[in-house]
Amino acid sequence: MRKRVYGILWGTALLACFAKWPLLPGVLRLICWVSAILANAPGVLVIGKLFGYLWVRTIPGYLGSAFLSMLLWEPVIRWLERPVSHSRRVFLVGGAGLALTGYGAAVERVNYQVRSYQLYLPDLPPGLEGLRVVLMADLHCGPVNRPASMRRALQLANDCRPDLVLMPGDFVHYSHTYFPEAAEWLQGLRTRIPGAVVTSWGNHDHWNDIQRANSVLGACQGHRLCQQRLVLTEGRTLEASGQGLWLCGLDDLWEGKPDLAGILRGIPDNQPRLVLCHNPDVAEEQSGGRVDLMLSGHTHGGQVSLPGLGTPIVPSHYGQKYASGWVVGPGGYPVYVTRGLGVGAVPIRLGVRPEITVFELHRNDKTRQTVLL
Ligand SMILES: [Fe+2]
Repeated sequence: MRKRVYGILWGTALLACFAKWPLLPGVLRLICWVSAILANAPGVLVIGKLFGYLWVRTIPGYLGSAFLSMLLWEPVIRWLERPVSHSRRVFLVGGAGLALTGYGAAVERVNYQVRSYQLYLPDLPPGLEGLRVVLMADLHCGPVNRPASMRRALQLANDCRPDLVLMPGDFVHYSHTYFPEAAEWLQGLRTRIPGAVVTSWGNHDHWNDIQRANSVLGACQGHRLCQQRLVLTEGRTLEASGQGLWLCGLDDLWEGKPDLAGILRGIPDNQPRLVLCHNPDVAEEQSGGRVDLMLSGHTHGGQVSLPGLGTPIVPSHYGQKYASGWVVGPGGYPVYVTRGLGVGAVPIRLGVRPEITVFELHRNDKTRQTVLL
């Protein structure tokens, strides 16, 4: 038993190293990554917690997590080796594992939650009072996030009757061949301000051919902002310049060159601005100008929440701080991190439902601060 478990752990760790080989076809790479992550989960959790998720993605990280997994699996192996009938052990462990994984993959992964907030901003023009903004991120169209389940999210988003939809990145997963599906999904969005779908890019959009992303998603409704900005005027039209609520789209932190100070430069101080930024870590690393609210995704809420541990795997350099919800970084401006719609390499969600966020905007002249209720 012991040898078999250890063999699986080292084997999957080596598979993960092999998955980095660039000539390996995408589907095989996916299988390697998923099996490696699942088998080495205890070690990945500990290394992720101690050294940050990104380190786990490296070859030494995976080998280290395989080693740690052996130590952490030890009590489980001892329990499995007790003198109990083999079929009962297999039934208990396998059944519980399968049930939990199945629930996370089939039920919770697509159990979308609509979260509604009142968002108070200083200097909001009177013409934009009551504006309804829907935030969604991390569509991850791909082999796991299929159009059928995504249609449910689309329906829920449209039922929110948005004036404006903001989507900060990660439209596809694993391959550029999924960009047409993402484009079709975007075409289904209905906004009360015509064509008011504003997007920015995430790391997966860069990884899967950003040129293709530009050409395919560029053909559908909306505005793609990559280090660009627009202003929503009091007349509720989106313009390149003018007065109103500014929408600034930053490039991705891992694969692009986000420049917060640069994109805010020149906007008059008395005009409010929302910043679309896929990776919330930018809030720790950049400041320089008024930001009323940064809207982010990327972390997926950690996807799996464990009792006592919280969300151990969060793809952020700052642990669980930016897993989800309302956060204030050292720059002093607030960030809202949505849990996103899709899933990443691990195709399950447990205790972390996918999220569609609705903000109803109001003017705050009393405290002159961004307030979320
Ligand atoms: Fe993502």
